[in-house]
This record gives sequence, C-alpha cells and structure tokens, in this order.
Amino acid sequence: MEKLRVCFLGTGSMGSAVLTGLIASGHPLGLISATTKSILSADALRARGISAMAIEEAVDANSLLAGDADLIVLGVKPHQIKDVLAEIKDEIAPNAVVISMAAGIKLASMAEVLPGNPNLIRTMPNTPALVGMGVTGVAPALSASADAVSATMELFDSVGAALEISEDQIDALSAISGSGPAWVFYIMEQWEQIAQNHGFTREQAAVMVRGTLAGSIDLLAQSDEEPGTLRSKVTSPGGTTERIIDTLEKADLQKIFEASLQAALQRADEISAS
Ligand SMILES: NC(=O)c1ccc[n+]([C@@H]2O[C@H](COP(=O)([O-])OP(=O)(O)OC[C@H]3O[C@@H](n4cnc5c(N)ncnc54)[C@H](OP(=O)(O)O)[C@@H]3O)[C@@H](O)[C@H]2O)c1
Repeated sequence: MEKLRVCFLGTGSMGSAVLTGLIASGHPLGLISATTKSILSADALRARGISAMAIEEAVDANSLLAGDADLIVLGVKPHQIKDVLAEIKDEIAPNAVVISMAAGIKLASMAEVLPGNPNLIRTMPNTPALVGMGVTGVAPALSASADAVSATMELFDSVGAALEISEDQIDALSAISGSGPAWVFYIMEQWEQIAQNHGFTREQAAVMVRGTLAGSIDLLAQSDEEPGTLRSKVTSPGGTTERIIDTLEKADLQKIFEASLQAALQRADEISAS
C-alpha cells in the first residue's frame, strides 16, 4: 500500500476524510492526488501540498489524474458515478482498483461502464471517518484480486475500522453503521430530553447523557466483557435499574430496531430500482 498512487475523484466531506486519514497514516503526499469541481476546493487541497485539479480549470481533470493511479476513490455524488467512470475509462490502467463510496450504486452498474476491470470495489463508510473513527463496509467484486481488497481495507482502516462483506450485505450495513450515527444521535436526543423534563438544564442533561455514553464506551473498550455482562453488573435484582430494563424489554426495543432496519432496506431497494 505504501507505494501505491491513490487518486480521489471528488474530495468533499467523505473523500477528504479518507484522504486526511491516508495522509495521517504516513502515506507519501507525492503519491496522492485529488479532483474537485471548484477551483476553491482544489486550492484548499493544494495549500496542503496535495496535487489537485478542479473540473472548473480542466474539464478532463478526472481522467488526467486518475490515469496513472493504482487506487481510484470515487467521492462524487451517486448520480455522478457512471459519468465519472465513463470519463476515466479509456485512461486508467486495466488493473486499477476502482473504489466507490456511493450509496445505492451497485457493482454491476460500475461494471457496465468498466467491463474489463476486475478490481471494482463498493464501500460504505460513515461520518465518524471525519474524526478517524469511521466504520466502513468493503464489498469487492468477485473478480477483485486479494491485493486490491487488502489495499482497500488498509485505506479505510486509516480512518477507523474496515469490514469485508459481500455486496448483498451492504444495504444492511448501510442501515446499521452507515446510518448508525443517526441512531445514536436520535437516542441521545430522547435521553437528554427526558433529563430536561425532570428539571435538569440543557447543559446538565448534556453532561449526564454524553458523559455517560462516552464513559460507558471507554469502560467497554477497556474491559474484556460483553455489553450484556456490564449491564448485568449495574442491574441489581429488585433495584431501580432492573425496572428500567424491564420497561424497555416490555416495549420490545429489538422489534422497533428491526422495524427501523427493514424500513431502511425497503428504501434502499426503492432507490436502487429508480
Ligand atoms: N457524507 C456521508 O455521510 C457519506 C456516507 C457514506 C457514503 N457517502 C458517499 O460519499 C460520496 C460523496 O459524498 P459527500 O458527502 O462527501 O459529498 P460532497 O461533500 O458534496 O463532495 C462531493 C465532492 O465531489 C466534487 N465534485 C463534484 N462534481 C465533480 C466532478 N464532476 N468531478 C470531480 N469531483 C466533483 C465536489 O467538488 P467541490 O468541493 O468543488 O464542490 C466535492 O469535492 C457520495 O457518493 C455519498 O453517497 C457519503
């Protein structure tokens, strides 16, 4: 991986998160290039010592920079993926690893534009990648080489943790970890609201809930026990915590989570179909 040339086509929120992680992992700056739409965004990358080019200054920026790359990371919006692949198709190396981060774009759609390229890889990162703590699902085409997959895993490990999965698992992964930050923030919103309903200020509620969440995550990370065991340790028989857990069990939280996941899977099917 350390000798591979990596080109980011589209370097907005997600593209620049991965690019930043790659630089932080020690990848040589001279092996990294990036494109953007605007000169403003390209200037910001150049100020960081990255070889960048904007579509606004060269309409063929994508094919110019992707041409000599070993790994090409597509960070443009899903509806642009096929057009960008068509732009670069005649310029890239036949074995270039082409990695999409786009939601809803199937490997088969990428292969329609790049039929001769075996190393097509679909990924789904999440926003904690912006702080180096993302979770990324990596779904390679069956034809992808072991080297292509391991370079992609290494790339996304640089912004958190990468999991290799099959493409038929990517919608479920998208719902669980891709949308995961929304689950967490929504639960925090409800939790902080009930604290406020019980007389605590917004600031006090934030300290209570965010501090408890951060502390519990650290406790779990530093222990070799499962969440269920740690929960049992704070749930004395006949005590108040037991009543909380009983209430959540009666509301069948798992059923609500499952229904949420199913709704996301159904929407993913609708998006793919359209
Ligand atoms: N953000 C997320 O939470 C998230 C999570 C998982 C997956 N994704 C996927 O990641 C991809 C990027 O999303 P994002 O949120 O990072 O989008 P974004 O912030 O809007 O970034 C898009 C980037 O593409 C550039 N661009 C636009 N047209 C281009 C073209 N023709 N050629 C090259 N670059 C072009 C933009 O340039 P300018 O900077 O000049 O505008 C910008 O740098 C999407 O496919 C999305 O599905 C995003």
